[in-house]
Amino acid sequence: KKLAVFVSGGGSNFRSIHEACLNGLILGDVVVLVASKQGCGGADYAREKGLPIMVFPKTKLEPDGISPADLVATLRGLEVDFVLLAGYLKLIPVELIQAYPRSILNIHPSLLPAFGGKGHYGMKVHKAVIASGARYTGPTIHFVDEHYDTGRILAQRVVPVLAKDTAEELAARVLREEHSLYVEVITALCEERIVWREDGVPIIRSKE
Ligand code: GRF
Repeated sequence: KKLAVFVSGGGSNFRSIHEACLNGLILGDVVVLVASKQGCGGADYAREKGLPIMVFPKTKLEPDGISPADLVATLRGLEVDFVLLAGYLKLIPVELIQAYPRSILNIHPSLLPAFGGKGHYGMKVHKAVIASGARYTGPTIHFVDEHYDTGRILAQRVVPVLAKDTAEELAARVLREEHSLYVEVITALCEERIVWREDGVPIIRSKE
């Protein structure tokens, strides 16, 4: 399968996905990186690996960015099967959601629907989890719809919150699990092991 990864930041999830494709764990290839800005760790990594980079969306600060229509046309031209958001902070345009039904995934660093939505990104999520007194948190992987963090949940993993945790310590513990969970889910996606229950909930079938 052909994969497009979207990033805005450091790109550690992108890196673990790319490595899992190279070592054959994921039966897929990252064919393009879409970044919300040229200057980010994810884009640096793509340049280092010789992967094509597109910038989306176009803004004053990113004049080389492309339009939603060009984004869709380019992904179609590259025959992209799945779109994987990996720390991509901008909203996905409705054109892309309609062009790729049930084919766009996001990873969020809390157990959705808790601590999701527009204001909950980056370290803010972990700060809010600690402030709430929640004893458990962890990554959620979900299909993407027109809103932030509301699409169908596909996979989650529980991570303990320790009494003395700083947001940074908790973020690091969650991020380690993000890497392995995302690779596990993308492996299933590329092997067509996602089935949709009648009520619209997606389930991962285990390998026979
Ligand atoms: C991750 O915590 C992810 O859940 C969130 O943004 C962060 C991205 O980290 N959506 P990285 O860029 O993959 O290192």
